[in-house]
Amino acid sequence: MTILVTGGAGYIGSHTVVELLQAGHTPIIADDLSNARADVIDRIETITGQRPVFYQTDCKDAAALRRIFSSHPIDAVIHFAAFKAVGESVKLPLKYYRNNLDTALTLLEVMEEFGCKNFVFSSSATVYGPNNPYPYREEMKAIESSSPYGWTKVMIERILTDYCTAKPDFSAVLLRYFNPIGAHESGLLGDEPNGIPNNLMPYIGRVAAGQLEKLTVFGGDYDTPDGTCQRDYLHVVDLAVGHLKALQYCAAHKGAEAFNLGTGSGVSVLELVNAFQSANGIDLPYTVGPRREGDLPAFWADASKAKTLLGWEAVHTVEDMCRSSWNFAKNAR
Ligand code: UFG
Repeated sequence: MTILVTGGAGYIGSHTVVELLQAGHTPIIADDLSNARADVIDRIETITGQRPVFYQTDCKDAAALRRIFSSHPIDAVIHFAAFKAVGESVKLPLKYYRNNLDTALTLLEVMEEFGCKNFVFSSSATVYGPNNPYPYREEMKAIESSSPYGWTKVMIERILTDYCTAKPDFSAVLLRYFNPIGAHESGLLGDEPNGIPNNLMPYIGRVAAGQLEKLTVFGGDYDTPDGTCQRDYLHVVDLAVGHLKALQYCAAHKGAEAFNLGTGSGVSVLELVNAFQSANGIDLPYTVGPRREGDLPAFWADASKAKTLLGWEAVHTVEDMCRSSWNFAKNAR
């Protein structure tokens, strides 16, 4: 299949492009490089021996998208391109709503012009909001979130669901990611946010590399076994493989369908810190500080729907995630 991958130079997008190439697909990357680096394309080529077609494009630019659709027989779109910093979205909501919603709408309009009917959407566990009990299951109400970033995911899921109702031959797969961490085994691709990281694993990597002094664990007084928050961390390569399974499902079905992509287990912040230390033989300086506003104490996936209907399940261990994260972070450019 020829697949347009928006945001294909980013963290999850680049790993997915590698899996697509290795499975014999033709990914076409559209990425504006607002939070990714151009040399990711070289690194994908080093890993796979194939250079994906790359357009430096803002996906809100309908004319640019039309040129891509005119030049390639696009069978499906995997849509990653979005702003994703939860805290920034609280401070700059208009930036997030404008970018994330406009991008999705523009893509759908251009897909309609070109008769492209398969859409895999990069959604998030954040759509389950603060009130659902965990483990989260897809049939739970997923209509609220705790940040403008999260609301854009809720809204785009809604847009896709309504669009599928109006266009019965359209297929949308909504992939609700839990907490992707880890890196490609080559050490060439990984999570490399600009500036000081917000997310846990990139922060740990910078501390381990001596670029940041110590990790602050946000809250040690939650009602969890060790007092720190629990999340469902999954390896980014497992997540990338989930997109291939979703593409197959998308091409064979109609309508909008949501899937959790997670391991189904909760791991606490301290458990992850300890796993990182023992997997890599590194002492990680940390301190337990106050809670971070907006954090939920614990959540993880019920991952059984993806196993049954997509034939997907996460296979990498927490140790794999910690080792590969460090293998990438220690050589970070
Ligand atoms: N944490 C720390 N110290 C840090 C950074 C994080 O203790 O320096 C803790 C957080 O408090 C949380 C856990 O590590 O308990 C994970 O935090 P992340 O920021 O890595 O991830 P979140 O669970 O907050 O956010 C993730 C995704 C979002 C998504 C959200 C809800 O990054 O995109 O899950 O699904 F919206």
